Amino acid sequence: MTESLNADAQSGGAPRCPLRDGAVPLYEHAGAASTGELWEELRARFGRVAPVLLEPDLPAWLLLGYEENLHVLRDRATYSRDTRRWNEIRDGRRVLGDGLRPTMAYRASALYADGAEHARLIAPINDALSRLSDARIKAEAADVADRLIDDFCEHGRADLIGDYAMMLPAMLMNRFFGLEDAYGYVLGELSAGIWLDDGARAAESAAQMRNYFGGLVQRKRVAPGDDVTSWMMAPEFGMSDAEMADQLVLLVGAAHLPTANLIGNVLRALLAEPVTAREFASGALPLGDAVNHVIWTEPPLQMLAARFPTRDVVVGGTPVAEGEPLIIGFAPAHTDPKLGRPSGAGGSALESGGNSAHLMWGAGEHRCPARSLAERVVELGVRRLLDRLPRLRAAVPADELTWAPALFSRGLVELPVLFDPVEAPQREAPVPPPAAPAGPAAPERPDDLLTRLLRWWQGSGRNRRAAKG
Ligand code: HEM
Repeated sequence: MTESLNADAQSGGAPRCPLRDGAVPLYEHAGAASTGELWEELRARFGRVAPVLLEPDLPAWLLLGYEENLHVLRDRATYSRDTRRWNEIRDGRRVLGDGLRPTMAYRASALYADGAEHARLIAPINDALSRLSDARIKAEAADVADRLIDDFCEHGRADLIGDYAMMLPAMLMNRFFGLEDAYGYVLGELSAGIWLDDGARAAESAAQMRNYFGGLVQRKRVAPGDDVTSWMMAPEFGMSDAEMADQLVLLVGAAHLPTANLIGNVLRALLAEPVTAREFASGALPLGDAVNHVIWTEPPLQMLAARFPTRDVVVGGTPVAEGEPLIIGFAPAHTDPKLGRPSGAGGSALESGGNSAHLMWGAGEHRCPARSLAERVVELGVRRLLDRLPRLRAAVPADELTWAPALFSRGLVELPVLFDPVEAPQREAPVPPPAAPAGPAAPERPDDLLTRLLRWWQGSGRNRRAAKG
């Protein structure tokens, strides 16, 4: 660890500046087996804010302290979420590489908007999320979870990441959007594909995702239903087709990977951390507290991109120039010694489990509008597996599990498990989305974007399962 920290990338020929001087190549630590030591070494060397490289010669400040992260998240007048303010990119000194594009490239969505524009774009999202009843969330999540488990429960083995955690949030969002499950399988695999190392495959997934959202908007304009997409299109919000597509991309981007990672990380803790497993099995650690424990120790997003000061500022004692990126550091903030929390992996989950003062749902203007929905889905998703699969256990030792080589998110590549096979129950066919209200009839669909997407997927060999629905 120390060796790689000392191997500072120097910006050959570029002018020296505080941000570049000694900046630590963070991208070399993506997917590290353990990150705790990294945060400690950065703290020991730089204090509360560290200069890091997100890509070779692409510097940013990483916020290490709990207070500093909270302050920057909350102070919307000084810190903008708009990535077009990033000085290196804005001034044409750098072009974003493919790896950072999904998180750092600007989109015209609520996530990258400030002030009045943010309020305008988040309004339909908040309205739609508030219209999803508790009963509907629980019923749909349980049904999606059961159908995914049916696919592997007779085999006695599964990969709980690819077969389950990655699919559950995508299938569920697809239902909330008002589409049949066939498209949920496509969405799940395309959305996971965007984060793949394979650049060509990631670009293809991104292109096909555009067809998914374009097709979804097209269908719901003609035949609205009782679903999130149609509610967001209500005339009072005045959203254009392009704006709708951008907000839907935000919803899937925000909902899919963090939820999938959190389900996977909780399952890892319950199956591969002996102390947590024991405390949970004894009843001393409720599932909700196990989720909190995981958020403190292996948060599904270890960092978040980014905030940009609208003027020169001093953060945690470090001068930061206008337009320099500040990366929100959830994982370093959660291990900030100032919090006085017990450090080190492998300890009891009881204390951290009862403490929900973590930063995982954000703060201020952009805080997560779907916190309670996400918590319910994660708990229900984990509980369903534990209830349905007898003698569920890890199939490999904990030190053979590998973390995805991602900079910002934190999730396993695979979680192979064994269990006693059980028969899959006979189920009724999935309930189709509610019928459209009276109005213009839906068009013949053979050539709409969604139908073409489904045909492409079915014929592309991408689908690991036969399309259902
Ligand atoms: C474990 C799961 C989740 C975690 C950890 C999480 C965390 C977060 C965080 C930290 C933010 C703040 C982003 C920022 O400040 O820049 C955020 C924003 C957001 N989240 Fe979540 N989220 C999760 C699940 C979901 C789900 C399931 C949905 C949708 C159904 C969702 C929708 C959103 C949206 C729309 C925003 C943008 C809010 C804005 O810009 O005003 N999230 N989320």
